[in-house]
Amino acid sequence: MSAIDEGKPLRVALLGCGVVGTSVARLLTLGRDDFTARIGRPLEIVGIAVRRLGRDRSETGVAEELFTTDAEELVTRADIVVEVIGGIEPARSLILRAFEHGASVVTANKALLAEDGPTLYAAAEKHGVDLYYEASVAGAIPLLRPLRESLAGDDVTRILGIVNGTTNYVLDKMDSTGQGFDEAVQQAQALGYAEADPTADVEGFDAAAKAAILASLAFHSRVTAADVHREGISEVTAADVRAAADMDCVVKLLAICERVPGADGLPGISVRVHPAMIPRTHPLAGVREAFNAVFVEARAAGSLMFYGPGAGGDPTASAVLGDIVAVARHRVGGGVGPRESAYADLQVLPMGQALTRYYISLQVHDRPGVLAQVATAFAAHEVSIQQVRQQVSQRQDEQSQGGAELVIVTHTASDEALAATVNEISAMDIVRGVTSVMRVEGE
Ligand code: HSE
Repeated sequence: MSAIDEGKPLRVALLGCGVVGTSVARLLTLGRDDFTARIGRPLEIVGIAVRRLGRDRSETGVAEELFTTDAEELVTRADIVVEVIGGIEPARSLILRAFEHGASVVTANKALLAEDGPTLYAAAEKHGVDLYYEASVAGAIPLLRPLRESLAGDDVTRILGIVNGTTNYVLDKMDSTGQGFDEAVQQAQALGYAEADPTADVEGFDAAAKAAILASLAFHSRVTAADVHREGISEVTAADVRAAADMDCVVKLLAICERVPGADGLPGISVRVHPAMIPRTHPLAGVREAFNAVFVEARAAGSLMFYGPGAGGDPTASAVLGDIVAVARHRVGGGVGPRESAYADLQVLPMGQALTRYYISLQVHDRPGVLAQVATAFAAHEVSIQQVRQQVSQRQDEQSQGGAELVIVTHTASDEALAATVNEISAMDIVRGVTSVMRVEGE
């Protein structure tokens, strides 16, 4: 490398100038001298691709003439392309084009990584450049680099993550105020935590994409969003949250990735997103408001917890900027970051084979033999009961009719056995109604 090359700025192209893009541009501009010192060469923003020109973007500190609507052209004249547009297209085509022109790519695009990560990895490898995407999961929290690099010598056995801030905010409010789901969502929207259309968050799509990325890295296997069993929180009721509180638990939307032996005896992985009760003593239970946290269990390391802000302009930009520095250092010093590691090729098991526990509360007739009949249904499906409690029904209408409430917590069993048990008891004459069914995790 010549002396002139050594001082030559590395050209950075930014695709997208929304909340995250604006923070990235502003922080890059503000920290120019420190970035030069950390990398060994200056970074120069050579363009920012936006959908429409003419808006006031002075907050970025970037000259107006550097904004362009021609993203296709922009990616051909950069050393580092930063994609913060989101979605599948045009992001994928632009990233592939950037690789073809020799640029390394930093992206925050969870949907794209979760749908088509291997295509991106293959293209980066073919062109000898980097693909980094720390910001795609859990915002500012350093998590993918630890999984990809720091834990590369260990065997991750399980990940339990709160990776969606919106749903954590909603469930936290339901827990602390007794509010129902709709009311808590409205409050989250009023405060800017939830989108006007909250579907992607509350129905677990966002968390499922993140779970796919985490499972791929943790288990050296290809997992896409379509492989992830997904249940959102829109069915979680105030009664579920109260029931959890009675058990000294909280309800959280969890992204769960774990090694599980398959029914065929071969090793597999379960990757799923669903609400679950976790004990208040579990480190994830203390994660309040819109924060994210990911609990990782690894054979040698034991339990690790990663915690912090999972969204927002500056926090997400922090992860993007860390990636920019990493890929820029490779440009200066040579080498590339880790390639795709999918050698283990573990099968993703159907939800029915996931091993979990259930909490079930039922309104039943309070007369001889009822408990025995319910217990028989559990035994028939080989589900072992860990705890059972009968109490006078909390509900006025049930009380007046001599009703009782049965609360049952199971030991670990396959999800299909547990679901079949619930189906059977729901249909029994002696059962007036099933008040709450929820998985129990984190023990
Ligand atoms: N919508 C996400 C959340 C942030 O609520 O956490 C971006 O991934």
